[in-house]
Amino acid sequence: MGMGMDLNKRGESGESSGESSHYLDDAFELNDVLSPVQRLIAIHDEIRHTQSLADVTRIAIALFDSKSRRLKTFIRSGTKDSPLDHYTASLDDIPSLLEVAKLKRPRVVDDLGMFHASPSVHSTKLLSHGFRSSLTVPIFHHGELFGFLFFNSEKAACFTDVVAHQLIPYARTIALFAINEMQQIRVLQAAVKTAREITHLRDDETGGHLDRMARYSRLMALNLAAKQGFDDEFVEYVYQFAPLHDIGKVGIPDNILLKPGRLTEEEFAVMREHVDKGIAIIDAMRRDFDLDSLSHVQMLRNIVAYHHEAIDGSGYPKGLKGHQIPIEARIVSVADVFDALTSARPYKHAWSPEAAFEFLHSAKGLRFDPDCIHALEEGMAEIRAIQAQFAESPLG
Ligand code: C2E
Ligand code: SIN
Ligand code: SIN
Ligand code: SIN
Ligand code: FE
Ligand code: FE
Repeated sequence: MGMGMDLNKRGESGESSGESSHYLDDAFELNDVLSPVQRLIAIHDEIRHTQSLADVTRIAIALFDSKSRRLKTFIRSGTKDSPLDHYTASLDDIPSLLEVAKLKRPRVVDDLGMFHASPSVHSTKLLSHGFRSSLTVPIFHHGELFGFLFFNSEKAACFTDVVAHQLIPYARTIALFAINEMQQIRVLQAAVKTAREITHLRDDETGGHLDRMARYSRLMALNLAAKQGFDDEFVEYVYQFAPLHDIGKVGIPDNILLKPGRLTEEEFAVMREHVDKGIAIIDAMRRDFDLDSLSHVQMLRNIVAYHHEAIDGSGYPKGLKGHQIPIEARIVSVADVFDALTSARPYKHAWSPEAAFEFLHSAKGLRFDPDCIHALEEGMAEIRAIQAQFAESPLG
């Protein structure tokens, strides 16, 4: 980075006498972007400690989708066991929240138990997890409802006027970063859609391959979630980014990319460059779309850069080993090869799932992460459903 000292050169500059300045331990790199959940947790910690508001034990954002008029939980902090994970509801079914949106003002509920004659699923679930009071802040962007920010406490009447006024500036900060994150995802998706449309004009791999391998990747991430500690956010981004693994194929000449037969050694060497070309595209997009504050761009880059690496170091382009290969790339690698094998290509027939798994197992711990193979294999029923839903045309 342009600013900032090179710490390795400290002491060589001849300025070290006098000790009139010193360094803090915290390095600040713009690449160290916190994910939305991490930022929320950091702000929540600050609220609890700095502001001695220890009774605020849950903060959550629900996004509003104006097309479906539904709310879905996006991020939350607080207890590990969350009452509302994967919860979606129609805003019109929650009159009390609809009212908050109409009035465009934060609302305090001192006792959720006393609040409704017929409480919503939302407040019932909160109550069943021991929450008693809430501060609900509607978030607007360009005059449109963006979502709601919820502060909850296990104490009744936690949100006095004083507490509420202390929390509002934090609410503003949280709302701003959530809005910023969603806008950046939209920019990235638009760029990616354009790139994919261009790719599909040329590549003989159909969209079916991308639809299936994205879903295999998601299935694997879900099955690995407990062991690996993945949250909803991670699973969602793996699913969004997996279909972009081969974006670098846009840079491969037609006579190789579209060759209706086996590649020669020379041609395959050119084909392998799709990884470095993909990295260059992602880095150009980061630069040109100023995406560096989007939290999971690194995950996208890892998928593009490392989806042909192998656990034993025999992969390309870097020859990374084992856990040097990011988990998202280990997942996508298995999903990609599984789908490539079970699909017909101009140079090969489609294999059965059983034959494909036999192949994966034969390279278990050599090329592929054993946990990833098992995570896919556990989902045999889902695999068949995905294959049925995203089947190729007979000639595909
Ligand atoms: P892809 O078709 O998406 O295949 C992804 C990976 O699946 C391949 O990476 C390879 O590891 C595996 N795979 C695909 N088909 C087969 C197969 O028939 N047998 C086995 N054992 N594995 C298979 P890889 O090898 O690095 O290839 C990268 C890309 O190069 C492929 O992406 C495909 O677009 C292209 N490619 C590879 N081999 C050929 C070929 O013989 N002819 C043509 N026209 N293209 C090829
Ligand atoms: C919802 O009300 O739809 C969920 C919001 C939350 O996570 O509290
Ligand atoms: C509701 O209005 O049902 C939700 C209560 C809250 O958390 O504000
Ligand atoms: C492909 O897998 O060859 C296409 C990649 C993309 O469309 O992003
Ligand atoms: Fe590839
Ligand atoms: Fe592929």
